[in-house]
Amino acid sequence: MATDRRPDDMARITTPELADAFIEEQIAALRAQIGDRKVLLALSGGVDSSVVAAMLIKAVGDQLVCVHVNHGLLRKGEPEQVIKVFRDELKANLIYVDATDRFLDKLAGVTDPETKRKIIGGEFIEVFAEEARKLDGIEFLAQGTIWPDILESEAGIKAHHNAGGLPEDMKFELVEPVKILFKDEVRVVGERLGLPANMVYRQPFPGPGLGVRCPGAITRDRLEAVRESDAILREEFAKNGLEGKVWQYFTVVPDFKSTGVKDGKRTFDWPCIIRAINTTDVMEVTVEHLSNELIDHLVERIIKEVPGINRVLFDYTPKPPATVEYE
Ligand code: XMP
Repeated sequence: MATDRRPDDMARITTPELADAFIEEQIAALRAQIGDRKVLLALSGGVDSSVVAAMLIKAVGDQLVCVHVNHGLLRKGEPEQVIKVFRDELKANLIYVDATDRFLDKLAGVTDPETKRKIIGGEFIEVFAEEARKLDGIEFLAQGTIWPDILESEAGIKAHHNAGGLPEDMKFELVEPVKILFKDEVRVVGERLGLPANMVYRQPFPGPGLGVRCPGAITRDRLEAVRESDAILREEFAKNGLEGKVWQYFTVVPDFKSTGVKDGKRTFDWPCIIRAINTTDVMEVTVEHLSNELIDHLVERIIKEVPGINRVLFDYTPKPPATVEYE
């Protein structure tokens, strides 16, 4: 039976057997709730929405319509992975919208971090609503709400509606199949649903994506420098056994230039900042100290492979006083 609240005596889902039992129960509940009607899901490729998609594909097949909005601020390879896993492998009914130009045009020249976040969030709802309006007969909206979202919302810390803010006239019944699970349980369930480990165990990634790692006004060239350096960092962490061990790691390319020298000529390019941190609750964060060899290798690769970068810096600041993200 579907339940709205996590039962006090519910065992933590830590084993494949417990995950399988949860999946079986939820699939029956989803079929009972949805019948032969249609469900819409904003599929970001993040852990929660991906697990919800995989669960619904199992329960109601092509009655699920997934919309993947590429806002141009995703990490290298992410939109491609969403298409490969969901359209090609799980045979999902997936609508892919490349809205990169729309988002980047709206963000052009905008320097204030909060305004940037509002534009990204607002434009996302608009693109998603436009796609939803093109579809007939959708009655349900699926969301990747998880148990901490509900607890935080009840405690007044944050609103939990992931796709909240849809226009007034768009009324859907909510489908939230992982809402009584903690994050670690969502990951175990995702693995049992056949999702790739690098999707299920991926590090946290903010909704405004690389937009908050390109401080100041976002330009396409600097955004590419963030995306390429982030890809190199992730590749090197994976090669060096740090993937899944370090809680979060990424690069930031700030909006200032400094002088350098390359092939005997003066350069005037951006620095790339590496941030690698560990935490349990994200309120307090410590810095992961990398080996000198790895830092040297990262500097060499980033300088050589990423156009526009002539200097690599490492952020040694814990939280507090610094937040994890730069804006
Ligand atoms: P800060 O920068 O506040 O970040 O120390 C704490 C954690 O939250 C992530 N983060 C976000 N996650 N939407 C999200 O889903 C956001 O807008 C957002 N901003 C920050 C950040 O990556 C870090 O893990």
